[in-house]
Amino acid sequence: MKLLVTGGCGFIGSNFIRQTLKKHPDYRIINLDKLTYAGNPENLKDIEGKKNYRFIKGDICDPKIVSDAVKNADVVINFAAESHVDRSIADADPFLQTNIMGTHVLLKAALKFNKKFLQISTDEVYGSIDQGSFTENSNLSPSSPYSASKAAADLLCLSYFITHKLKVNIVRSTNNFGPYQYPEKIIPLFITNLLEGKKVPVYGDGKNVRDWLYVADNCEAIDLALHKGKEGEIFNISSGKEMENIWLAEMLIEHAGKDKSYMQYVEDRKGHDRRYSLDSKKIRALGWKPKFRFEEALKMTIDWYKDNKAWWGKLKK
Ligand SMILES: NC(=O)c1ccc[n+]([C@@H]2O[C@H](COP(=O)([O-])OP(=O)(O)OC[C@H]3O[C@@H](n4cnc5c(N)ncnc54)[C@H](O)[C@@H]3O)[C@@H](O)[C@H]2O)c1
Repeated sequence: MKLLVTGGCGFIGSNFIRQTLKKHPDYRIINLDKLTYAGNPENLKDIEGKKNYRFIKGDICDPKIVSDAVKNADVVINFAAESHVDRSIADADPFLQTNIMGTHVLLKAALKFNKKFLQISTDEVYGSIDQGSFTENSNLSPSSPYSASKAAADLLCLSYFITHKLKVNIVRSTNNFGPYQYPEKIIPLFITNLLEGKKVPVYGDGKNVRDWLYVADNCEAIDLALHKGKEGEIFNISSGKEMENIWLAEMLIEHAGKDKSYMQYVEDRKGHDRRYSLDSKKIRALGWKPKFRFEEALKMTIDWYKDNKAWWGKLKK
């Protein structure tokens, strides 16, 4: 199978490419990435020379580059996005451009060449939920410009399925963590701050709840959705390991051998969703479940950041 992976130099995309080439050594992957601040070729240094891997530097909003790349693939897997909520609050323009218009350029090319399309989406499209969990049929109610742009992209994908019968699937996962995550996101930010002897900034009262999914488990679920998803199907992906940000901060502070003085409450994020929670029975019915226990995966992640200071040191500067 020939996969066109967009945004493969980012966090989840690079983990997905590495894992896929290991699991399916006969597959070929083209990685189309613009190399924004979040895209880092070093994330895939170990596979750069492989015969069945090719990198193209380019923007998913560029119809010519996209058309040439899609033509040569069997399936398009769209990871490329502006992905940090805080940046979308400061300036939403690049979010609308890449997440909506970029997805649309890819969809048009997929339609032209009749290719399967897998959209990588997020739990944030459903918005916040106080109790219970969202299913794939729940309404979308995004709160931030980031999640609104992802929701718009999901709706566009579904419209191409309904209107044009394009073979579309969507996966919506909860918060990922693991190696190669840009150190502006909460877990790597906290780990690296503590390694630098700095405090960890906790938004508001710290009681916002997130479900934490190890990136390797998410990549397994994406692989399953790719191979087993029926046309037009959406899959929620969640670990069930929900926790308040403050518990996470306490856990990381304890791992670092520091005390509570390293926790610093800061002004809350605007429009901060209180709790995300997904019902993932559908993907689990296909045989998926997380392989990694949260505590074990967190320890592996902390160790990775300890061992790769050169990688994140440059990014934090
Ligand atoms: N990180 C999470 O916890 C999480 C959870 C659920 C869903 N998602 C989704 O998964 C996908 C990947 O997230 P991530 O955390 O790996 O993101 P990331 O920010 O680490 O990586 C994004 C990648 O996309 C590339 N990119 C950005 N704009 C582009 C453009 N116009 N053309 C081509 N490439 C472009 C960047 O260079 C980068 O390599 C995103 O679609 C995101 O919405 C992420």
